[in-house]
Amino acid sequence: MKNAPFTFELNPPEFIPSRYDNHITRRLSAMKGQYSNAAAFEAMLSKEDILLYEVYELKLPEVAGELLHGISIVHPGKVGDEYFMTKGHFHTVLDTAEVYYCQKGEGYMVMETPEGDWSVEALYPGAVLYVPPCWAHRSVNTSLAEDLITFFVYPGNAGHDYGTIEDQGFRTLVVEQDGEPAIVDNPRWTSPPVK
Ligand code: F6R
Ligand code: ZN
Repeated sequence: MKNAPFTFELNPPEFIPSRYDNHITRRLSAMKGQYSNAAAFEAMLSKEDILLYEVYELKLPEVAGELLHGISIVHPGKVGDEYFMTKGHFHTVLDTAEVYYCQKGEGYMVMETPEGDWSVEALYPGAVLYVPPCWAHRSVNTSLAEDLITFFVYPGNAGHDYGTIEDQGFRTLVVEQDGEPAIVDNPRWTSPPVK
């Protein structure tokens, strides 16, 4: 925990912070049920539990007023036709926002609200993306050659709710079609109950 000003650096080409407290790794086995092609998922997993993405973060108090931040690195690859991606989540304190600044690579941020609104924004070096309060978010690497690297900042009290997305995924999927990324409907997704 730090309670004094501090500086660190993010330098190309790797963009690994010059200082960090946690290095989180997510492997294929952590994504069970998240890729639409379950057979492709199992076939891949039977060969190797490969590393899909990594997060480097600085440990700060998880309270309102703090700004948690770090770097997310999604490696290139696909499960079936679906590109490597993060699990994705709502924030537990739903009305907390997040800012992403893309350092390297190409991809999309897939987003949606509990009401079923959705949005997909491109990520490319220099792109700054604002994820408003109440929007679930998942980053997808659409390059099959290089990492997708983003810097993120969000409120200290936000927390992470993974369960809602684990249940039915996002409304939209990013898949490769004819060698190009395409945004398609998720067949597993059902519209929220009318209130
Ligand atoms: C924090 C945030 C990012 C993600 C990271 C990994 O609120 O959105 O730091 O945590 O990109 O994705 P998840 O957490 O969905 O596995
Ligand atoms: Zn988040």
